[in-house]
Amino acid sequence: MNTQHSPKNTIRQDPRQPEFVQNPYSLYQQMHDMAGPVFWEDYGFWCLADFASVNAVLRDRRFARLPPPDQPLAPLPEHMAEFSAAEKHSLLALEPPDHTRLRKRVNRAFVNRQVELMTADIEASANRRIDAFEQDGNVELLSSYATPIPLSVITQLLGVPDSAGDRLIDWSHAMVKVYTLTQTPEEERQANQAAGEFRAFLRTVITDKRSQPGEDLLSHLIAPDPKGETLSDDEIISVAILLLNAGHEATVHQLGNAVHTLTRQYPLGKPRQALLQLLADPASADAVVNECMRFDAPLHLFMRFAQETIELSADVTLQAGDQVGLLLGAANRCPQRFSQADTFMPLRQDAGNLSLGAGIHFCIGAPLARLELRIALQVLFSRLPTLITTGTHEYLDAYHFHGLRQLELSWQA
Ligand code: HEM
Repeated sequence: MNTQHSPKNTIRQDPRQPEFVQNPYSLYQQMHDMAGPVFWEDYGFWCLADFASVNAVLRDRRFARLPPPDQPLAPLPEHMAEFSAAEKHSLLALEPPDHTRLRKRVNRAFVNRQVELMTADIEASANRRIDAFEQDGNVELLSSYATPIPLSVITQLLGVPDSAGDRLIDWSHAMVKVYTLTQTPEEERQANQAAGEFRAFLRTVITDKRSQPGEDLLSHLIAPDPKGETLSDDEIISVAILLLNAGHEATVHQLGNAVHTLTRQYPLGKPRQALLQLLADPASADAVVNECMRFDAPLHLFMRFAQETIELSADVTLQAGDQVGLLLGAANRCPQRFSQADTFMPLRQDAGNLSLGAGIHFCIGAPLARLELRIALQVLFSRLPTLITTGTHEYLDAYHFHGLRQLELSWQA
């Protein structure tokens, strides 16, 4: 790695500092002012914050999620054996050709045409949740709306019994702690135990589906492809865990962040009327969803390994095996890409965002996530148009996962 970082291109910021976790956007502004790669001293790696560079690296095959083959990652310690087995065949832990082979098998379920068939089910699920809200005009949105909707959608899509919902949430919460890079040994132990239980559970579901296949994604993954090739149980389990975890954690928090943003941007009265109009029309409702994703994304930092010597800029050269941090949340507020980047404008001409990534690892669930978000927002605001936030709204204390701890709302009946 070129270590020519100077005060001009170095940032010092503890990623665990509470004020920063609550509002990472002022640091991003400083990074944009610095222009070019920024060395984040607390992490010890170079980061990119501008849209063009983050987008380019995500699509550049000289970068990968894994280090170069001659510098493999050290295996996880023995006490993480179950977790490691669960991750082994995750799409996020693979590169071509294995990544291509597995992604092709999963992709079928997520193409737009297939996903649109879920519209009525998602609407029904959202309405059922609102029917169950207490009649006193108060609700905590994350637990009573933002979590159950994506969870019921992904369990249905995979063909996992709905009754497993609570266990799936607990396993998923325990496992994602390990991605924050600040986990404690106890959290590692819990993540490993969760992974073990999750794998055992899926093994029994797969056995059942072998004898009684359905129309769901798990049955499809178990069946041979047209060339007669099959996936191993370990591959199916890794993919299912990734879908169940990724399929709801990011969507829950994007929905929470979106409602938080919208209630603040469109206070009651004329602004709220304007929002209701936007949400009533499918095209402008999609634009609202896109802008919510740009404005306050739930996942802010992804890493890539250089596969060879790469000049990141005139001053910064990475060696094979060096890592670079891609700041999606910062790229979404890049002043070179977006006019008035810090202003929420759903009908902006320069719409776009990198919240779902780009390149070969682009979020496979993107069409589903967008549909869920649109319907969840439409149903919520049309049924409770006087919704306002109450109490304080803190983001969870993990910088990478930028989601609210809770979102208390109230409305007038
Ligand atoms: C708003 C919600 C979501 C956000 C913000 C999000 C974000 C992302 C991002 C940024 C990546 C790329 C990671 C990288 O390049 O290193 C990704 C990949 C992925 N996402 Fe999502 N995601 C969301 C919802 C979903 C849903 C609903 C599913 C599935 C049901 C899903 C499944 C996946 C999978 C399987 C990958 C790995 C793809 C691959 O490696 O080829 N995500 N997601």
